[in-house]
Amino acid sequence: MVNVSSPNTPGLRDLQAVEQLRPLLNEVRSTLDSEGHRTLPLLVKIAPDLADADVDAVADLALELGLDGIIATNTTISREGLRGDPEAVGAGGLSGAPLKRRSLEVLQRLRSRVGDRLVLIAAGGIETPMDAWERIRAGATLVQGYTGLVYGGPLWPRRMHKGLARLVRAAGYSSIGQAVGADAGADGAPADAGDG
Ligand SMILES: Cc1cc2nc3c(=O)[nH]c(=O)nc-3n(C[C@H](O)[C@H](O)[C@H](O)COP(=O)(O)O)c2cc1C
Repeated sequence: MVNVSSPNTPGLRDLQAVEQLRPLLNEVRSTLDSEGHRTLPLLVKIAPDLADADVDAVADLALELGLDGIIATNTTISREGLRGDPEAVGAGGLSGAPLKRRSLEVLQRLRSRVGDRLVLIAAGGIETPMDAWERIRAGATLVQGYTGLVYGGPLWPRRMHKGLARLVRAAGYSSIGQAVGADAGADGAPADAGDG
């Protein structure tokens, strides 16, 4: 995984601009290929703070360079919607709930751009089985939870698994894989309400 989205390393996020990202990923891709690691999956992890057009540009680049997937998203430098004094939370990336909406949006955008041609991994504010379910239905084949585990404790993964299993059954699926992208249209765009 190529992480160009951590807010904690000065200048790192600038590498997400396609002009910077293209040579970097190209080099990683060709090194992996030349060393016989073609089977090693190569994914890029992006920030939720990218503008929509830049999300699209990274998606196009990932397709062009034959990457395996995209991880959306890292933490945010935005302080939008926070109650109280934003200064009080200090510098650095915010994880968890404040990230939820934008991380989902970025995922939806990626799915509508690439359909099922790339693996999409969702991260950012996934705390409940419903959060994970929403990401899976938006097109994620894997979900990651960091802050959810920190606050939920060691039994959090078990609660997530059980809750997800219930949601899969309630939707009438026999496997969670059937739910991947269920909220996205055939071209990857979000489907109309009520459509499956
Ligand atoms: C303390 C901390 C350290 C992190 N370190 C990394 C890291 O080294 N590499 C990385 O790609 N993401 C890192 N992340 C980002 C998480 O992998 C994840 O993308 C982000 O926290 C959003 O998920 P969450 O809302 O479930 O926490 C870190 C997040 C936190 C809170």
